Amino acid sequence: MPHAIRWGILGLGNIAQAFVAGIGALPDATVVACGSRSAEKAAAFGATWDIPHRHGSYAALAADPDVDAIYVATPHPAHLGHCLLALAHGKPVLCEKPFTVNAAGTERIIAAARAAGVLVMEAMWTRFLPHVRQTEALIAAGAIGAVRMVQADFAYRFPWDPDHRALNPALAGGGLLDVGVYPLSLAHLLLGAPTAVTGAAHLGETGVDEQAVMALGFPEGRLAALTCGVRTRSPQEAAVMGTAGMIRLHGPWWRPTNLTLSRPGVPDEIIAVPAEGNGYNYQAAEFGRCLRAGLSESPLRPLADTLAVMRVMDALRAGWGLTYPMEAGGAAA
Ligand SMILES: NC(=O)c1ccc[n+]([C@@H]2O[C@H](COP(=O)([O-])OP(=O)(O)OC[C@H]3O[C@@H](n4cnc5c(N)ncnc54)[C@H](OP(=O)(O)O)[C@@H]3O)[C@@H](O)[C@H]2O)c1
Repeated sequence: MPHAIRWGILGLGNIAQAFVAGIGALPDATVVACGSRSAEKAAAFGATWDIPHRHGSYAALAADPDVDAIYVATPHPAHLGHCLLALAHGKPVLCEKPFTVNAAGTERIIAAARAAGVLVMEAMWTRFLPHVRQTEALIAAGAIGAVRMVQADFAYRFPWDPDHRALNPALAGGGLLDVGVYPLSLAHLLLGAPTAVTGAAHLGETGVDEQAVMALGFPEGRLAALTCGVRTRSPQEAAVMGTAGMIRLHGPWWRPTNLTLSRPGVPDEIIAVPAEGNGYNYQAAEFGRCLRAGLSESPLRPLADTLAVMRVMDALRAGWGLTYPMEAGGAAA
């Protein structure tokens, strides 16, 4: 591709703005189109962000011949349909987390992506941040020995609003799908797929998980202890504990941050990890790299990893008795 990657933004809410700002930090990417259910909203968003093509429907965005890749930024239950829409037009897709509501939904997207031979990636932006890459590099270099445990949490206190997507079952609300997916994905990155999954959740007034704890077991006795929530503020920290030391990712660990490497007998070492942009640029840079290389998946966040984490979330929700209206009858969502 000789020119900058031309992005189209599907769904013009909060995260769409952060993503467009992130693209601004990339020399070889630009946003050329935005699509909304409302023509007025698309016009206003396009004017604010200087985006030339402003579409009053998602279908028109997906059909725009000047768009090289589509970023899906709609609420969780809409991801499945919007990914399939983009793929039907042969467009590569970067889709917000959680990729879908349940693993069956993810399987449908994977099947469509493979049939089309088109690049699809989950926008698990934390996976691509420099300090997370640095953590992997330290572990690979043996800095903390063999990894034995991972602790991570991501919980925040959202003001009470039962209609907002954080708490509304019709928008697959709850902490697990909104933010639990981050510590689960970190644990998956560092420990692989769990062999045992258990947890406890408080299902609040709207019926969704307001806060939850998750305990995962892995081969050879490795463990992860994770927490998430939308009604309780947590330290938002992570730690990776090995046989010869520990790496701490300071709160909030999901934003570019410094690391502390602790090893017995030596002073703690604070490792500065420089980052650029607002952090969302790194996922877009990886997506662009894959697109230019003709890949249909990112080796850093393959769809198998996305699916594995979705299956863990399905298992946790099954244990809590939490299903969403759009899953009625076992539907893929
Ligand atoms: N990576 C991150 O850090 C991060 C942060 C926040 C959210 N997210 C993810 O991004 C997705 C969107 O979150 P958000 O906070 O940006 O949500 P939001 O502010 O509510 O925006 C979602 C947009 O989706 C469109 N939409 C389509 N169907 C909708 C419906 N039934 N109800 C409401 N909106 C609908 C709307 O755009 P139009 O009106 O233009 O059609 C709306 O503005 C979620 O899946 C969330 O998990 C990721």
